[in-house]
Order: sequence, then structure tokens, then C-alpha cells
Amino acid sequence: MLARNRFILLLAVGLVLAVLSFSLQYLQLMPTSPVGEEVPRGKSRKRVNPVVHTEAPEPDPIADAYRYCNLPNQTEHTWEGHSLADYKLLSVHVMIRHGDRYPLYSIPQTKRPAIDCTLSSNRKPSHPLLASFISHMAQGGRGHWDASLGSLPRVPNHSSCEMGELTQTGVVQHLKNGVILHQAYIRRHRLLPPDWSPRQVFMESTGKSRTLQSGLALLYGFLPDFPWSKLTVRQQWSTLFCGSSCDCPARSRYLDLEQKRQYRQRTSDAELEHNYVAMATALGVATRALRAANPVDSLLCHLCHGLPFPCANSNARTQGACLTLNHFAVIRRQQHDDERERQEVGLYRRYAVLAAHPYLNRTALRMEAAVRRRRKGIEEPVFALASAHDVTMAPLLSALGLEGAGFPRFAARLVFELWKSPEAKEGKGKKGGTVENAFIRVLYNGQDLTFDTDFCRDHDRHSAQPLCPLSNFLNFVRRDMFSIVNATSYQEACHLTVL
Ligand SMILES: *[C@@H]1O[C@H](CO)[C@@H](O)[C@H](O)[C@H]1NC(C)=O
Ligand SMILES: *[C@@H]1O[C@H](CO)[C@@H](O)[C@H](O)[C@H]1NC(C)=O
Ligand SMILES: *[C@@H]1O[C@H](CO)[C@@H](O)[C@H](O)[C@H]1NC(C)=O
Ligand SMILES: *[C@@H]1O[C@H](CO)[C@@H](O)[C@H](O)[C@H]1NC(C)=O
Repeated sequence: MLARNRFILLLAVGLVLAVLSFSLQYLQLMPTSPVGEEVPRGKSRKRVNPVVHTEAPEPDPIADAYRYCNLPNQTEHTWEGHSLADYKLLSVHVMIRHGDRYPLYSIPQTKRPAIDCTLSSNRKPSHPLLASFISHMAQGGRGHWDASLGSLPRVPNHSSCEMGELTQTGVVQHLKNGVILHQAYIRRHRLLPPDWSPRQVFMESTGKSRTLQSGLALLYGFLPDFPWSKLTVRQQWSTLFCGSSCDCPARSRYLDLEQKRQYRQRTSDAELEHNYVAMATALGVATRALRAANPVDSLLCHLCHGLPFPCANSNARTQGACLTLNHFAVIRRQQHDDERERQEVGLYRRYAVLAAHPYLNRTALRMEAAVRRRRKGIEEPVFALASAHDVTMAPLLSALGLEGAGFPRFAARLVFELWKSPEAKEGKGKKGGTVENAFIRVLYNGQDLTFDTDFCRDHDRHSAQPLCPLSNFLNFVRRDMFSIVNATSYQEACHLTVL
């Protein structure tokens, strides 16, 4: 009897603590920037919360590179699924960048980094779900695969990685992402019933094995042992996920102008030029050949895998000379300068608005339909996953006004949550929900950036309505986002003459 009372007391205390911690989190009295995460720069002016302002320190290239690596051995504080009590979660739309991969280029006259791309739960980094993930993927023939996806391997499986192949680290990163989303949306909010229908889950990927494998790893963490028969994976032909709306001459023109700016910025950086000459000399190769091999991609891979930087092959003239952290730091410094100038000049932002619109438009349409539940015969997905690349995610962040979030790291995740307020149920006489009762949250790598977005930056979250109205997002996607190119629609913006 005593034991039982004590148990009930403990339960009550636990409940009070849980409620307290939840409301503290909601009121943002607790830290919202997870340890080791990128904190958006340059947005603090707009923050309502008191923030101590200090000059942004020069970025430390090494710490910064580790953030990019996103090693899966750290615990994160994440804010997915946090909302006001009584609000109902209607749907979740996720875009990810693929996980850690082997370099896309090799540095001439050096050995390629020795990385094993087979999966083994005995090798670090591992994950409790890795072994069952591997056996589940072996059954993947039963899934429904769009276009060429069925012929791609569903797990990385080369003892010496191929160029661009997903590594075990990359798989573990996305299993981890999936588990985070499982806790937030399945355990906490029951977004999907145990017998979910095939239409409720949507996945799309580009035709690269690393995006397909990353998406499957996330899905497995989210819905362990999902039945293959319910899964259809759609293929996106363009890395912009623009579906049938890819034709946009102005977008190509802005990209062209941006690339010219980038070229000018790079070639006017004397320190960078000296650095390339020094690196090329060390390896005994032509400077141009080295630059073309984009060495920073390979150096990042060495760093992420704890491998020493490469040295000249024994048959090279400069035998034994090695690339150094200093070489690397100069390239990263220039990349940061370039990023800063890119934001100031704004050409990339214009490109980004046109590049990201088709994906945002589809997401907006799905959200609106989920609120109204009026599309005859069509059940909208409540969980939509787009498995993509840095060149997909970066324009999306920029278009939303989240450029400060930085370059997308490996296994980055961008999440849109759709919520319905309790009033929606009581609304008398109205069939289904209305957009007025619907709200959106935007999270990047677990951090709530809703009020940093262009469409909700000016919303007073201390007002009667502390969440961001869905209508802000809908108006932004359908009209307001084009104001930066002096247009009011995608069609108009795409066909403006850009000088
Ligand atoms: C994660 O692993 C890296 C490399 O093995 C190590 O340097 C780092 O300290 C680890 N971090 C944690 C939090 O364990
Ligand atoms: C990986 O490749 C090996 C040898 O080619 C093969 O025996 C094994 O079944 C493959 N594993 C998976 C999970 O595809
Ligand atoms: C955007 O969505 C609307 C439906 O809301 C559709 O009519 C239109 O064609 C879409 N536009 C693009 C560019 O995808
Ligand atoms: C938009 O119009 C304004 C005023 O007419 C002009 O200064 C600006 O350069 C235009 N922007 C673009 C991207 O065309």
C-alpha cells in the first residue's frame, strides 16, 4: 500500500515536472540553441528576447568544419513537436540533405582517403537500429520504386567507398534523425496510426544512391520495420525538386550572374591564389588541376573521418609533402567571405526564390488541403519526406529568409509542421477546418526558426496568437516571395528580363 502511494506521488511529481519543463520550453525560458548547433547570425536585431550583443567572432574554421561533419556521437536538444497544449498536429513536411558521403573529387597525386562504405553494426559510429535496418533493406525489392530508383542499391556496400557514396556515418546520421522525428511525432503526437495507409506517407528522392539511402534510413528510424508494400518512392529529376515547373529562364540567368560574381570574388582573393599555388607546389601538380579538383571537399572528408590530411604520392616529385590545416583554413576563410558577399549582393537570393518556389508551392498546397480536407478522393500525406542535396536545401533556406543558418551540413533537416488550434473543432457550422485556425512552425536541425523566416519575422508572438498563422506562409509562397524580383507570381518572375 505504502509502495503504491509512493509510486503515485512520484508519478504526480513527474507529471508536474513534465508540465513545467514543457511550458518553460514553450515560453522559451530555456535555451533554444542546441549545443554545437549553428546559430543564425545577423537576425538578432529582430529578436524580442533580450540578447547580449557581442561582435561575431571570426569563424573558427576547424570548429566550423566539425559542425559541417555533424558527427553522430553528440546528443541534441530538439524542438520538433513542441507547441501549445491542445493544438493538433496535422502534417509534417521534411527536407533533408543526404548524410556523410565520400568526396566527389580526388586530389591529384594523393591517395584517396581509406574509408569502408560497407555497413557493420560492429564498426563506429553505430546505432541500435543499424543491424535491423540492414536486414530490412535487403527486403526492399517489395517496395514500389519510381523510374530508375528501383535499380539503385538501398544500402552503401563497397569496402572501398566509391565517389559520392554514402558512408556508415551518413546512414547513422539519418537513423538518428528518424528516431528524433519518431519521438516527436509518433510517440508524442500520434501523427500516424499504427495501421497507416500508403497515401499518408510520401517520400521523394533524386536518382542518386546517397539521397535514396539517406531517405530510407530516416524513414526506418521514423517508422521502424515499415511494411515495404506500403511504400512508394517518387523520383525527382531535378535537384531543385521543381517537378513539372522547372522551366524558368530568369532563374538560370540569376544563377549565371551569381556564378560570375563568385568567380570575381575568388580570383580577386590574393591569399587564396597563393594558397592554391602553395598546395599545388607541395603536390607537384598544376595549380589549375588542383583547383578543378575542389580540394576542400576531400579535406573536409579527411577531417570528418579523423584521417590525416593527404600527402604527395611516393611517385610524385615532391614525395612526402603534405597538405596542412593551414591550407584548409585559408580556403574556408575565403568561403566565408564569399558567403558574406553573396548575401550582401542578393543575386543568390533572387535565384533562390525562383529555385525554391515549386517545392514550397507543393508544400503549401498540401498543407491547405490537409486543413480543409476538401480535395475529393485525394488523401494528402501527413508525413512527406524529400531527400535532397546541399544545392536543394541552400536555396530553400535562402528563399525563406534563413540565410543566416549557414551552409547545410551533412544530414541537415528542415521541417515544416502544420498545426490546428483547438477552436477549429468548436467552429460551429463550418465543415472541416479553415486556414484561420491553422499554424505553421519551421525548424532547422531541431531549432525553431519560425520567427526568423521572412513570412513570420514581423508577427508579434507575444500577441493573442503566439503561433505563426498558416496564411502568412500561403501568402508568402503565392505572392510575397516574388516581391524581391518585382513580380507577383512565379510565371511572371520567371519570364522577366534580367539584365
Ligand atoms: C565525437 O567523436 C569525435 C571523433 O571521434 C571526438 O573528437 C569527439 O570528442 C566526440 N564527441 C563526443 C561528444 O563524444
Ligand atoms: C554487399 O556485397 C556483398 C558482396 O558483393 C554481398 O555478399 C552482400 O550481400 C551485400 N550486402 C548487401 C546488404 O547488399
Ligand atoms: C502552385 O500551386 C497552384 C495550386 O495552388 C497551382 O495552380 C500552380 O500551378 C502551382 N505553380 C507552380 C509554379 O508550381
Ligand atoms: C525593382 O524595382 C525597383 C524600383 O523600380 C528597382 O530599383 C529594382 O532594381 C528592381 N529590382 C529588380 C530585381 O528588378
